[in-house]
Amino acid sequence: MRRRTTRLVVAVGVVAAAMAVVKLPTSAQDDADRVARGRYLVDAVASCGQCHTPRKNAAEDPERYLMGHPRSAEAPKFSMDLIRQGVLLSIAPSYTAFSGPWGVTFATNLTPHATGLGSWTEEAFIRAMRTGKHLGDPDKRSMLPPMPWRHYRSITDADLRAIWAYLQSIPPLDNAPPPAKNQLGKPFDQ
Ligand code: HEC
Repeated sequence: MRRRTTRLVVAVGVVAAAMAVVKLPTSAQDDADRVARGRYLVDAVASCGQCHTPRKNAAEDPERYLMGHPRSAEAPKFSMDLIRQGVLLSIAPSYTAFSGPWGVTFATNLTPHATGLGSWTEEAFIRAMRTGKHLGDPDKRSMLPPMPWRHYRSITDADLRAIWAYLQSIPPLDNAPPPAKNQLGKPFDQ
């Protein structure tokens, strides 16, 4: 009787262990899950493409997905007169360059090209999203509007890592947007 119980316990243990092994996701599966989660966050929740993907006929252009403000595209001029007349924000037709009381900003390239996030590390990306510092470097300037980093800074580490993994998986596009034109002085200087 005792022996039979022992055998049963051993058998159940073996089956449970086998199930655990089968159920354990492989690391490739983990990576695929992380990228899928990142895609969902970027496209459906945080809508990064709203500003980082240039428009074509008013819609985000899938061919230029997340490549930032096209280097040679039109940018709205900074105009104190317009601001005095109550026009707080003007936006380029591409919807990737923005002029307001802070100056003029250009959405950056989020693709894994050298002109985008290609040379960044995951740590720098997470720091940039949390601290609003250019390049994620504490010694660099603070990011200017309208990049909503104050909203994004409370995203969990796991989700920021998922966003990073997804952004590293999209097609790299060669585009270096112009540097921001800052009217506010420190801490927004280059
Ligand atoms: C409302 C518009 C808007 C949205 C939405 C937006 N961004 Fe931005 N983002 C900008 C602008 C404009 C800049 C440039 C700011 C500057 O030059 O100070 C920027 C800058 C950045 C930078 C800094 C790059 C550098 O060189 O330091 C990163 C990283 C970034 N965005 C990632 C994201 C991600 C990821 C999302 C979605 C989770 C996102 N942005 C959503 C407008 C936006």
